[in-house]
Amino acid sequence: MLENKKMEELGQEEQTLIKKALEAQKESYCPYSNYPVGAAVLSENGNIYIGWNAETVSFNQSVHAEQSAIMRMPKKDRKIKMLAFVSRDGGAPCGHCRQIISEFGNPNTKILGLTTKDNSVTITTLEEILPLPMPTGKGAL
Ligand code: THU
Ligand code: ZN
Repeated sequence: MLENKKMEELGQEEQTLIKKALEAQKESYCPYSNYPVGAAVLSENGNIYIGWNAETVSFNQSVHAEQSAIMRMPKKDRKIKMLAFVSRDGGAPCGHCRQIISEFGNPNTKILGLTTKDNSVTITTLEEILPLPMPTGKGAL
């Protein structure tokens, strides 16, 4: 169930992942939106991959932080256990990123969103933010 907690109320694994996402946020390239986002994804094998948003002047080519972190997961380690992202407003990943998480996650994949404005963390699951996903792994056509 959707929860809101302070950083210090979280477990070690959660805090570590959020700190990685905060580090990643520093690398954001967002001169057009001025909205830096950082993400970190924990694989089922226990590895962490990070990403940040990167924009171009043509706007619609922007790469989202969550997408960037997930696409760095190598073939043998592509199962998402937990994902953390940070932005000034926190909340939950956008619809585009939810679909990407669904490709490599599962209904219980934990999603943490740190709001840097007040250091609060929204805790949810993929099932909660994408309740009726398109079936994955079969190809759309
Ligand atoms: N952004 C992300 O990186 N992740 C999201 O889930 C939402 C939006 C980025 C895209 C763009 O660079 C900036 O945030 C403003 O939308
Ligand atoms: Zn997104």
